[in-house]
Amino acid sequence: MNNSGDRTFVMIKPDGVSRGLVGEIVSRIEATGLRVEQMRLERLSQEIVEENYAEHRGKEFFEPTVAYVTSGPVVLMIVTGTGAQAIMRKLMGATNPTDAAPGTIRGDFALDISANVIHGSDSPESAAREIALFFGGREA
Ligand code: PPS
Repeated sequence: MNNSGDRTFVMIKPDGVSRGLVGEIVSRIEATGLRVEQMRLERLSQEIVEENYAEHRGKEFFEPTVAYVTSGPVVLMIVTGTGAQAIMRKLMGATNPTDAAPGTIRGDFALDISANVIHGSDSPESAAREIALFFGGREA
């Protein structure tokens, strides 16, 4: 089966942007052969971030995470290519940087789960939902 049209959603979080890691991260993505189909820099509203993390509402990290993701501009991307979600998750490393291997984005650039530099969709369903939420009708 040709999966070259696989798409995933990627966000470089405010610490990644403020630390000047956008170029390095985009280079690592492109070096795999994946392609950046859409990309924009934006400071997100509290409403859209709360919606994105709605499944975590009520958990102790929900409010700090919303505050962190809205604390400065982020880079939003649609990344495409065969196996895009799985490749991005390997490239990013474990969610908790303590567990992320050296050579991964979180392993190389983050120390703390509350500021872990990058987000990528964890399933085809979440990719579709997140692309619709952040790119709406603009992704065509
Ligand atoms: S879990 O453990 O299944 O509820 O978490 P997960 O679906 O992997 O993603 C949780 C997102 O919240 C961010 N975050 C934290 N997760 C767990 N514990 C703590 N303390 C925490 N603080 C922040 C975590 O980075 C995930 O964000 P995204 O943007 O999805 O990577």
